[in-house]
Amino acid sequence: MKLSVIGCGYLGAVHAAAMAELGHDVIGIDVDPGKIEQLRAGRAPFFEPGLPEVLVSAIASGRLRFSTDIAHADDATVHFVAVGTPQSRDGNAADLRYVDAAIDALLPHLKAGDLIVGKSTVPVGTARRLADRVADAGSGARLAWNPEFLREGYAVKDTIEPDRLVYGVEDDRDAAVLDEVYASAIGSGTPRIVTNFPTAELVKVAANAYLATKISFINAMAEIAEVTGADVTRLADAIGHDARIGRRFLNAGVGFGGGCLPKDIRAFVARAEELGRGESIAFLKEVDAINLRRRQRVVELAQEALEGAVYGKKVAVLGVTFKPHSDDVRDSPALDVAVQLKGLGADVVVTDPEGIDNARLRHPQLLYSNVTEEALRHADLVVLVTEWPEYLGLDPAHVKEIARASTIIDGRNTLDAAAWKAAGWRYVGMGRS
Ligand code: UDX
Repeated sequence: MKLSVIGCGYLGAVHAAAMAELGHDVIGIDVDPGKIEQLRAGRAPFFEPGLPEVLVSAIASGRLRFSTDIAHADDATVHFVAVGTPQSRDGNAADLRYVDAAIDALLPHLKAGDLIVGKSTVPVGTARRLADRVADAGSGARLAWNPEFLREGYAVKDTIEPDRLVYGVEDDRDAAVLDEVYASAIGSGTPRIVTNFPTAELVKVAANAYLATKISFINAMAEIAEVTGADVTRLADAIGHDARIGRRFLNAGVGFGGGCLPKDIRAFVARAEELGRGESIAFLKEVDAINLRRRQRVVELAQEALEGAVYGKKVAVLGVTFKPHSDDVRDSPALDVAVQLKGLGADVVVTDPEGIDNARLRHPQLLYSNVTEEALRHADLVVLVTEWPEYLGLDPAHVKEIARASTIIDGRNTLDAAAWKAAGWRYVGMGRS
């Protein structure tokens, strides 16, 4: 099939490459010439394991091209819209200007029978509005909504082998077109839910709201554990054995961040309020508040460890991305903690295998080192905030030799506490005794 993908950010670049990998003929379109140039050269504009290999092989096969000119979408019959929907500058609602601009730009290039497929995360009601606009333009093209659930770090796999496919359609023919696009996933048994526009839009935000709630739930338990001497990790293990609860996404720590969960729950609350149903999901404000408190908690623990004398102390911050296997620092709890400690006068040295360039762009005032040992050397305090595998493999005895610190704060509850204690460290977890 001939596909176009409008918007080559995280979602769009991965989608374009994955669709070409599945054998489709794909043109990726973006207004940013720098991004298009990089993608044409087979380079991903961000760190995503496996993506460069797929880009290079799909470009070499001739099935994947990139352009800044939307007229090159003319040949395609299915047009994916994968542009960003960031948080508005003046509030929590999603900013839809890029979605609207993409539809406007596409309209002159549409033919009867073409299908526009929205993949961006949008407030419920957007697809209806856009479908009316497409119908009014009179090309005979239609619109479907097909949310994406990819996780950073696993984006290519999640796109090629999704957990489920969700189609919001108004015409059975559109579901058939999407079946053809995703034939390989459907062939391997991926469940497929065909529904209306608002359900498809809501599935995406509801899934992210649920995941965020699950994390804040366990972090709320961590807060209780902290004043009672309970261990939240053991608690999560125990409740996680109940199949109705499940152990995944019950890792307490410094909380969630990234380009999706925080902004999506805020936009969802804003949309529900517009719809006169703010009270239905008012609890998501609490989910957000619990999450932000955990960052504060790490800062408090650092102050305690340094006995209030933070000024001029060297603090080694291990990890700056919002999670491992990503270079993304958007709404990163780790970066927030580093900035707050710097604000208190600490000499913060941040290290991270992939995130330093992005972090430096946002916060040039912090010190950065690519070398973990350098960050740790003579540090008065060690704070782990992103659980990269290399930090889990650190030898506590060796770190003790090179750092001045006696305390390690494990903001992700992922280190082997017993091993660190055995090497003479005061180990401080999040909600662990
Ligand atoms: C998320 C959703 O998982 C994905 O389905 C959606 O399409 C986009 O948003 P992503 O942002 O890549 O994906 O990250 P995810 O793996 O969900 O982690 C989100 C945040 O939660 C990270 O900061 C992570 O460290 C944190 N987290 C996750 C916890 O604090 N505890 C957990 O138990 C799990």
